[in-house]
Amino acid sequence: MQGTFHVVGVGPGDPQLLTLKAVQLLNRCRTWFVPSAFENGGSMALKIVSGVVSREGKTILSHRFPMKPVHRGQEVDPEVADAWRQAAETITSCLARGEDVIFPTLGDPAIYSTGFYVCETLLTHDPETKIAIVPGVSAIGASAASAAMPLCLGDERLVVIPATFADERIREMLRLADVAVFMKVHKVMDRLVALLESEGLLDQAVLVERSSLEDQIVWKDIRQACGREIHYFSTMVVRRG
Ligand SMILES: C[S@@+](CC[C@H](N)C(=O)[O-])C[C@H]1O[C@@H](n2cnc3c(N)ncnc32)[C@H](O)[C@@H]1O
Repeated sequence: MQGTFHVVGVGPGDPQLLTLKAVQLLNRCRTWFVPSAFENGGSMALKIVSGVVSREGKTILSHRFPMKPVHRGQEVDPEVADAWRQAAETITSCLARGEDVIFPTLGDPAIYSTGFYVCETLLTHDPETKIAIVPGVSAIGASAASAAMPLCLGDERLVVIPATFADERIREMLRLADVAVFMKVHKVMDRLVALLESEGLLDQAVLVERSSLEDQIVWKDIRQACGREIHYFSTMVVRRG
């Protein structure tokens, strides 16, 4: 019988934020297909999981996915498409042998995770592929918790924005938002700070770096984070007054 492909959210970093279901599945599945964004094969998801589940007896298949933008509805960068295709081929051969395969992914799989691109590629090749998604604690909720602030209350509108968007697109989205969560801020902090200043929102912004980890920092004055090297694990919450 064909195995199942499990995409499992592993939370924002603190292994205690892994769900019981994720731990159970990680213990049970012997084949871990681990995404890595680095040439050296290092994986943040694997690091989180290793704090709780033993790797003994597991086959760890590490696969590099290039960190390049994907624009939905447009042609995908060939290097990215190739990485998805190769991943799908390896996973398909494991599933065909009856093995279950687990794909641990940072935060929650439904939010900017490569796991869903792999699912789409698998389903394109075989629509009967068995897929199961296990939600995880997203960096969105974790960052709000670190800053001890709500994301939305009453009739407030919450908007999630990749900070890598062009300025005009960000301004458009900000107009719709009572609360905005910016992800992928680490390389564009200075540009984002200038934009928020011009929108009069600088004092409403909180930056959370490495939420849930021992060395997390909550920047209540985001000007202080400018000009510094900010960790990839950084999320900004902007709440209108
Ligand atoms: C590719 S997205 C993945 C999001 C993930 N699927 C989730 O649900 O949190 C990566 C972004 O998540 C955010 N992020 C991930 N871990 C974080 C953490 N521990 N603290 C703050 N932000 C984090 C950062 O904005 C980072 O650029």
